[in-house]
Order: sequence, then C-alpha cells, then structure tokens
Amino acid sequence: ADYETLEIEDRGAARIVRINRPKALNALNPQVIAELSRVLEALGQQIEAGDWSIRGLILTGAGDKAFVAGADISAMVDMGRDEAMSFASAGHAVGEMLANLPIPAIAAVNGFALGGGCELAMACDFIVASAKAKFGQPEVKLAVIPGFGGTQRLTRRVGLARSIELCVTGEMIRADEALRIGLANRVVAPEELLDTCLGIVETVAKMGPLAVAEAKRVLHQGAELPLEAANQLEVEAFSGLFETADQAEGMRAFLDKRAAQFSAK
Ligand code: HXC
Repeated sequence: ADYETLEIEDRGAARIVRINRPKALNALNPQVIAELSRVLEALGQQIEAGDWSIRGLILTGAGDKAFVAGADISAMVDMGRDEAMSFASAGHAVGEMLANLPIPAIAAVNGFALGGGCELAMACDFIVASAKAKFGQPEVKLAVIPGFGGTQRLTRRVGLARSIELCVTGEMIRADEALRIGLANRVVAPEELLDTCLGIVETVAKMGPLAVAEAKRVLHQGAELPLEAANQLEVEAFSGLFETADQAEGMRAFLDKRAAQFSAK
C-alpha cells in the first residue's frame, strides 16, 4: 500500500484517514507526519484538478482506545534542538494543509487525544468526540510544551485562562468537559462516532462546493484579522460567488422549488 501508518477509505463523499499504530496508541512519529502530509497534498491536488467527489475529510485513530496519544515519545527522547525543530515544523505544516484544504476536516476523536493528538484534532476544522474521548496537553510532564500548535490553537478555541490551565497542569479532561469549554463541537456514543461524522459530510456534500470552500477560507483567514478587514474579506468572497454558475443554480432551484444540481463552477 501507499501508506504504512495510515488507512485510507472513501465512503460516500467522505475520505476517512485513520492513523494506524494501535500498539503505540497511534502516536505520531516523523513517518506518520510525512504520510499525513502526502495524503493531504494528494487530496488538495485532486480537488484543485476539479474532482470534487470528496467533500469532507474525517481524521480518526485505529482501535478503540486512542485517537492519537501524542507525538511518539520514543522518537523524541534522543532528539536534539534541530531535530525537534524540524519535527515541530513538519507538524505545523500538516496543520496548515488541513486549514488550506477547500473542504472541512473533521476530527473524529475516538479515544485519547493527548499532546500532539489533541493538537492534530484542533488543526481540523472541528472535533466530534466519542463519549470515551479524553483530551489533554500533558507535555509538561515530559518537561516540554506543545509543539504542533497546541499553545495557540487551544487558546483560540477555549480562551487563554483555560488553555494555560491545561498546558501547565497537563491534566486530562473528559469529552463532556471538552464540549462544555468549546474544544469539542459534539459528543456522541462511541458506536455512533463515525456515522455522525459521515452524516456531517453528507450534509456538506449537498451544499455548493465553492461556497463551502469560501466559507472555510474566510472563517479561517478572518479569525486572524481585525474585524473591519475580516468583514471586507467576507464581502469580497460573498460577491465573488456571484460569478459562479452554482450561485445562479442554487438560487434558481430554490425559486423553482427543486433540488439544486451543483457543478463546482
Ligand atoms: C510513544 C506511546 C505513547 C506516546 C502511549 N504509548 N503513548 N508510545 N509515544 N505518546 C505506548 C506505550 O508506551 C505502550 O507501549 C502502549 O502505547 C500502550 O500505552 P500504555 O501507557 O500502556 O496505556 P495506558 O496505561 O492505558 O495509558 C494510556 C495513556 C498513556 C494515558 C495514553 O499511554 C500516556 O500517558 N501516554 C503518553 C501521553 C503523552 O505524554 N503524550 C504527549 C507526548 S508529547 P508498550 O510498548 O509498553 O505496550 C507530544 C508533543 C507534541 O505529543 C509536539 C511535538 C512537536
């Protein structure tokens, strides 16, 4: 197969990417990070070439115990500063690729999402958690700090005070607490996790593909801008969609009381 540490499965409009190192609780070593980069690059290129058959990415972990229990500690133990920097940078590049994908990326958190696992989940657009999931940034227990974006993405999701508390105590929180503080979007029974995510992708798949891509882009980019500039980004993206065939089709179909047939054009 193309990937040693990932299982790829297309179901309907969803591409499921399952991190598959269950004996190490799916810990992220440099190979997993490299394979994630490749799978995301391939998906981005497929869509850029005009193939919109995949409308959502679902990232999850193999087995019933872990989403990802962190970066692989055995791969990090003997790292020096330069190696640590390139490992962290490679993880950040995966985060950027997830954000730049023109379709939503959903983390289906099926168990432990610790350290780099929590960071990978947060690099997805949103998180659907199994009731069994546990989240945390335990890096301080290893005398390091989050390195795949945790210090920044956790803060943007849950606010500075809660983020600092999690990052300095290393404590794990349960799925219901993750939901309460806005880290997880939904919590579902373990056996419903994948179907819930597939259902979300099927819902998205009925929407205008270019509109979904623009919504994601404007939301991500606008979150980093002052309100006025962010609003201008929205105005430009909104009006730009009026040059698409899908806008005419979507609105015409509504007025004709029929289902729209989108073409991603
Ligand atoms: C390597 C790991 C691992 C990890 C678990 N394993 N997490 N190996 N890296 N992050 C391995 C264990 O060594 C063990 O291998 C097997 O998976 C099962 O784990 P156990 O510990 O036996 O399971 P359990 O007692 O149920 O405890 C589960 C756990 C615990 C609470 C999730 O494994 C744990 O605390 N893991 C480490 C979590 C962590 O600190 N993550 C942050 C890493 S730092 P054997 O061979 O003994 O069966 C990080 C930095 C990110 O993520 C930024 C990088 C740039």
